[in-house]
Amino acid sequence: MSENIQANYEPKVIAFACEYCAYTAADLAGSMRLQYPTNVRIIQLPCTGRADPILLLRALEEGADTVFVAGCQPGDCHFINGNYRAKAMVPSVKKMLEEIGLNPLRVEFFHVAASQAPRWVEVVKEMTSRIQALGPSP
Ligand code: FES
Repeated sequence: MSENIQANYEPKVIAFACEYCAYTAADLAGSMRLQYPTNVRIIQLPCTGRADPILLLRALEEGADTVFVAGCQPGDCHFINGNYRAKAMVPSVKKMLEEIGLNPLRVEFFHVAASQAPRWVEVVKEMTSRIQALGPSP
């Protein structure tokens, strides 16, 4: 019976997306009518450099099953190093999750360029299937 519950489980996925790249890619995916899981909620950031551990942890605390940050490709950040900063921050959040008994796979960082609508779809599908395998956040 629990397997059926797991199969029907729709995880709550929160994406913190840079408006210059990943957010635009998500928009483009919509325009291209690409199909991807509808359980992702996108929070637009001016740059992923604005993401911080408290933001990610707060999203998990408020009920998200997984949180990911999606920023510009290396070298393309409009604020020089916001994407590198965000990417470097995610392992520290993973460590914090481990310390409180949550699986660190619930948090991730991805580079997604504005033109990479299929990549955006791939990322959302990956995070959704990853969390479907892990189950709801305790
Ligand atoms: Fe996109 Fe900084 S402007 S990650």
